[in-house]
Amino acid sequence: MEIITVIKDMQARSDKMRQEGKTVVLVPTMGFLHEGHLSLIREGRAYGEDLVVSIFVNPAQFGPGEDLESYPRDFERDLDLLRKEGVTAVFSPDAQEMYGENFQTFVELEKLPKHLCGLSRPVFFRGVATVVTKLFNIVKPHVAIFGEKDYQQLMVIRQLVRDLNFEIKIVGTRTIRETDGLAMSSRNTYLSENQRISALALNQSLQKAQELVENGQKDTFGIIDTAARMIRSHRETEIDYIAICDPETLDDMETIDRPARMALAVKVGKARLIDNILLKPKVSESNFKKRSRKADQ
Ligand code: PAJ
Repeated sequence: MEIITVIKDMQARSDKMRQEGKTVVLVPTMGFLHEGHLSLIREGRAYGEDLVVSIFVNPAQFGPGEDLESYPRDFERDLDLLRKEGVTAVFSPDAQEMYGENFQTFVELEKLPKHLCGLSRPVFFRGVATVVTKLFNIVKPHVAIFGEKDYQQLMVIRQLVRDLNFEIKIVGTRTIRETDGLAMSSRNTYLSENQRISALALNQSLQKAQELVENGQKDTFGIIDTAARMIRSHRETEIDYIAICDPETLDDMETIDRPARMALAVKVGKARLIDNILLKPKVSESNFKKRSRKADQ
């Protein structure tokens, strides 16, 4: 496994791989790896023989007062995990290498960041879009893998690939959870034992929402209210947002008359946690009959 810290070296290596006809697959991360990250890497393996993982805690996506300094890091442990996964190269530049002295070009999306996490983290998506664009130009992947856990981020990246004409296939993968349902996250390490229990409310409220929708509830206001009550009943929780939105535009939906994405962000102690789920409305009997009649024809 090659460990590369210099941009030019990474570019030269990727050029060579491409000339040899290899498919370059990139899994971008900020390190402190867990099973969620490893699932992306395993998915990536199926797409090509050159599997590159980047580890870079990107200062541009942290706002003032956020956890850039305290973000958990354990580079040696990460490398051990990546060796076991058969990763071929790790790209881990420092901030000076990535942004230098006179950096001034940022990638900014107009609409998607005006929803969900973008409202409370105003520089986040510009930081993500900028660093991912840079990683695409440095690692030159054919395929890049991202988790649905960060649903809005995945949408932002799909949009930027379309808008800026990157010839890169973006693959989204499902969220990996602890056995009790908590979505894995490097930030879970911030949780005390009691906060860890409170954090279960995120997934529980999404599951409850799904159950309500399956039972025919369509009004999003009522579903969000139920979720909010569930979360507030747990100690040390502070809701940032709970939204039910169009899966593509992220615009709020009032009625679940088609598949919708429910997303939430909750502070538990000092950890800001996010999670989401796809809500699918029950096909009503009359619709079902109409559809099966069509299928019979
Ligand atoms: P990070 O939080 O380290 O996540 C790296 C990738 O792992 C992202 O695509 C994220 O969606 C995915 N991931 C995180 N937790 C997951 C889980 N429980 N199940 C499945 N996938 C999971 O996201 C970032 O880093 C950064 O913003 C980055 C894209 C690297 C840009 O700096």
